[in-house]
Amino acid sequence: MGSEKGARREMSVSAIRNGTVIDHIQNEATFKVAEILRLAQEQHTVLVGMNLPSGKVGKKGIIKIESRELTPQEVNKIALIAPQATLNIIQDYEVAEKRSVELPERVEGIVRCFNPSCITNRQAVSTCFDVIASDPVGLRCVYCERVMTGPDIILK
Ligand SMILES: Nc1ncnc2c1ncn2[C@@H]1O[C@H](COP(=O)(O)OP(=O)(O)OP(=O)(O)O)[C@@H](O)[C@H]1O
Ligand SMILES: [Mg+2]
Ligand SMILES: [Zn+2]
Repeated sequence: MGSEKGARREMSVSAIRNGTVIDHIQNEATFKVAEILRLAQEQHTVLVGMNLPSGKVGKKGIIKIESRELTPQEVNKIALIAPQATLNIIQDYEVAEKRSVELPERVEGIVRCFNPSCITNRQAVSTCFDVIASDPVGLRCVYCERVMTGPDIILK
Protein backbone atom coordinates (compact mmCIF):
# COMPACT_ATOMS: atom_id res chain seq x y z
CA MET A 1 0.00 0.00 0.00
CA GLY A 2 1.29 3.46 -0.88
CA SER A 3 1.97 6.08 1.75
CA GLU A 4 -0.77 8.50 2.81
CA LYS A 5 1.20 11.30 1.25
CA GLY A 6 1.54 9.63 -2.15
CA ALA A 7 -2.16 8.74 -2.27
CA ARG A 8 -3.45 12.33 -2.31
CA ARG A 9 -7.23 12.43 -2.09
CA GLU A 10 -9.07 14.14 -4.88
CA MET A 11 -9.91 17.78 -4.15
CA SER A 12 -13.45 19.00 -4.67
CA VAL A 13 -12.03 22.46 -5.39
CA SER A 14 -8.94 22.40 -7.52
CA ALA A 15 -5.39 23.13 -6.52
CA ILE A 16 -3.51 26.40 -6.61
CA ARG A 17 0.22 26.79 -6.97
CA ASN A 18 0.86 29.54 -4.43
CA GLY A 19 -1.44 31.44 -2.14
CA THR A 20 -3.91 30.91 0.68
CA VAL A 21 -6.58 28.29 1.37
CA ILE A 22 -9.17 29.22 3.98
CA ASP A 23 -10.67 25.90 5.03
CA HIS A 24 -13.40 24.80 7.50
CA ILE A 25 -15.43 27.97 7.06
CA GLN A 26 -18.89 27.53 8.60
CA ASN A 27 -20.95 27.09 5.49
CA GLU A 28 -23.18 30.16 5.97
CA ALA A 29 -20.17 32.41 6.55
CA THR A 30 -18.52 31.63 3.22
CA PHE A 31 -19.82 34.65 1.32
CA LYS A 32 -19.13 36.94 4.25
CA VAL A 33 -15.52 35.84 4.23
CA ALA A 34 -15.41 36.50 0.49
CA GLU A 35 -16.78 39.97 1.18
CA ILE A 36 -14.25 40.71 3.93
CA LEU A 37 -11.46 39.80 1.56
CA ARG A 38 -13.02 41.86 -1.25
CA LEU A 39 -12.67 38.89 -3.55
CA ALA A 40 -14.86 40.53 -6.18
CA GLN A 41 -11.95 42.90 -6.76
CA GLU A 42 -9.24 40.25 -6.66
CA GLN A 43 -6.82 40.14 -9.64
CA HIS A 44 -5.73 36.54 -9.26
CA THR A 45 -7.66 33.28 -9.42
CA VAL A 46 -10.23 32.76 -6.66
CA LEU A 47 -11.92 29.39 -6.10
CA VAL A 48 -14.90 29.07 -3.77
CA GLY A 49 -16.57 25.86 -2.59
CA MET A 50 -19.67 25.55 -0.44
CA ASN A 51 -21.81 22.76 1.04
CA LEU A 52 -18.77 20.52 1.21
CA PRO A 53 -18.99 17.69 3.74
CA SER A 54 -16.86 18.20 6.84
CA GLY A 55 -16.61 16.22 10.03
CA LYS A 56 -15.52 19.33 11.88
CA VAL A 57 -18.24 21.88 11.12
CA GLY A 58 -21.01 19.92 9.37
CA LYS A 59 -21.07 21.49 5.95
CA LYS A 60 -18.15 23.72 5.21
CA GLY A 61 -17.00 26.36 2.82
CA ILE A 62 -13.54 26.73 1.39
CA ILE A 63 -11.88 29.65 -0.37
CA LYS A 64 -8.66 29.44 -2.33
CA ILE A 65 -6.86 32.55 -3.46
CA GLU A 66 -3.90 32.42 -5.79
CA SER A 67 -0.86 34.61 -4.99
CA ARG A 68 -2.28 36.25 -1.92
CA GLU A 69 -1.61 36.24 1.82
CA LEU A 70 -4.00 37.68 4.38
CA THR A 71 -3.28 40.70 6.52
CA PRO A 72 -3.58 40.37 10.32
CA GLN A 73 -6.61 42.66 10.13
CA GLU A 74 -8.28 40.33 7.62
CA VAL A 75 -7.49 37.31 9.80
CA ASN A 76 -9.07 39.04 12.82
CA LYS A 77 -12.21 39.74 10.85
CA ILE A 78 -12.45 36.15 9.66
CA ALA A 79 -12.01 34.95 13.26
CA LEU A 80 -15.13 36.91 14.23
CA ILE A 81 -17.44 35.31 11.69
CA ALA A 82 -15.75 31.94 11.11
CA PRO A 83 -13.86 31.12 14.31
CA GLN A 84 -13.26 27.52 13.24
CA ALA A 85 -11.60 28.40 9.96
CA THR A 86 -8.08 27.20 9.24
CA LEU A 87 -5.57 28.99 7.08
CA ASN A 88 -3.21 27.08 4.85
CA ILE A 89 -0.37 28.79 3.05
CA ILE A 90 0.32 27.00 -0.22
CA GLN A 91 3.76 27.06 -1.75
CA ASP A 92 4.51 25.17 -4.91
CA TYR A 93 1.27 23.18 -4.55
CA GLU A 94 2.10 22.00 -1.00
CA VAL A 95 0.74 23.13 2.37
CA ALA A 96 3.73 25.06 3.70
CA GLU A 97 2.02 26.40 6.80
CA LYS A 98 -1.25 25.74 8.61
CA ARG A 99 -2.83 27.64 11.45
CA SER A 100 -6.22 28.33 12.92
CA VAL A 101 -7.61 31.84 13.09
CA GLU A 102 -7.60 33.17 16.62
CA LEU A 103 -10.02 35.47 18.31
CA PRO A 104 -8.25 38.39 19.91
CA GLU A 105 -9.24 39.38 23.47
CA ARG A 106 -10.23 42.80 22.22
CA VAL A 107 -11.57 43.91 18.88
CA GLU A 108 -10.75 47.49 17.99
CA GLY A 109 -12.23 49.43 15.14
CA ILE A 110 -13.46 46.62 12.88
CA VAL A 111 -17.00 46.10 14.21
CA ARG A 112 -19.85 48.56 14.51
CA CYS A 113 -21.72 48.86 17.83
CA PHE A 114 -25.31 47.69 17.44
CA ASN A 115 -26.57 50.31 19.89
CA PRO A 116 -27.58 53.43 17.93
CA SER A 117 -27.07 55.69 20.95
CA CYS A 118 -23.59 54.39 21.68
CA ILE A 119 -20.99 57.15 21.67
CA THR A 120 -19.14 55.29 18.87
CA ASN A 121 -22.16 55.87 16.61
CA ARG A 122 -22.55 59.53 17.56
CA GLN A 123 -19.05 60.91 17.79
CA ALA A 124 -15.69 60.27 16.19
CA VAL A 125 -14.77 57.55 18.69
CA SER A 126 -13.54 54.23 17.31
CA THR A 127 -15.24 51.11 18.55
CA CYS A 128 -13.76 48.70 21.06
CA PHE A 129 -15.18 45.39 22.24
CA ASP A 130 -14.17 42.73 24.73
CA VAL A 131 -14.52 39.23 23.33
CA ILE A 132 -16.63 37.48 25.99
CA ALA A 133 -17.49 34.24 24.18
CA SER A 134 -16.00 32.33 21.31
CA ASP A 135 -18.55 29.87 19.91
CA PRO A 136 -20.72 31.61 18.97
CA VAL A 137 -18.69 34.77 19.21
CA GLY A 138 -19.90 37.30 21.78
CA LEU A 139 -18.66 40.88 21.95
CA ARG A 140 -19.29 43.50 24.63
CA CYS A 141 -18.87 47.17 23.82
CA VAL A 142 -16.50 48.76 26.32
CA TYR A 143 -18.42 52.05 26.05
CA CYS A 144 -22.10 51.10 26.33
CA GLU A 145 -21.76 47.44 27.41
CA ARG A 146 -24.11 46.24 24.68
CA VAL A 147 -23.51 42.55 24.06
CA MET A 148 -23.62 41.40 20.47
CA THR A 149 -23.60 37.92 18.95
CA GLY A 150 -24.24 36.34 15.55
CA PRO A 151 -26.05 38.56 13.07
CA ASP A 152 -25.68 41.61 15.36
CA ILE A 153 -21.99 41.59 14.61
CA ILE A 154 -21.62 43.91 11.66
CA LEU A 155 -18.17 44.48 10.30
CA LYS A 156 -17.22 47.95 9.17
N1 LIG B 1 -2.06 23.04 -3.71
C1 LIG B 1 -3.24 23.20 -3.14
N2 LIG B 1 -4.13 24.01 -3.72
C2 LIG B 1 -5.34 24.22 -3.17
N3 LIG B 1 -5.77 23.63 -2.06
C3 LIG B 1 -4.92 22.81 -1.43
C4 LIG B 1 -3.62 22.53 -1.94
N4 LIG B 1 -3.03 21.66 -1.08
C5 LIG B 1 -3.92 21.41 -0.10
N5 LIG B 1 -5.06 22.09 -0.30
C6 LIG B 1 -6.25 22.12 0.54
O1 LIG B 1 -5.88 22.77 1.75
C7 LIG B 1 -6.50 22.14 2.85
C8 LIG B 1 -5.45 21.66 3.82
O2 LIG B 1 -4.69 20.67 3.18
P1 LIG B 1 -4.15 19.41 4.00
O3 LIG B 1 -3.40 18.56 3.03
O4 LIG B 1 -3.45 19.89 5.21
O5 LIG B 1 -5.51 18.68 4.31
P2 LIG B 1 -6.06 18.03 5.67
O6 LIG B 1 -5.08 17.00 6.14
O7 LIG B 1 -7.46 17.61 5.41
O8 LIG B 1 -6.00 19.26 6.68
P3 LIG B 1 -6.96 19.55 7.89
O9 LIG B 1 -6.53 18.64 9.00
O10 LIG B 1 -6.66 21.01 8.20
O11 LIG B 1 -8.37 19.31 7.43
C9 LIG B 1 -7.38 21.04 2.28
O12 LIG B 1 -8.70 21.55 2.12
C10 LIG B 1 -6.73 20.74 0.94
O13 LIG B 1 -7.67 20.25 0.01
MG1 LIG C 1 -9.34 18.22 5.91
ZN1 LIG D 1 -21.53 50.58 22.19
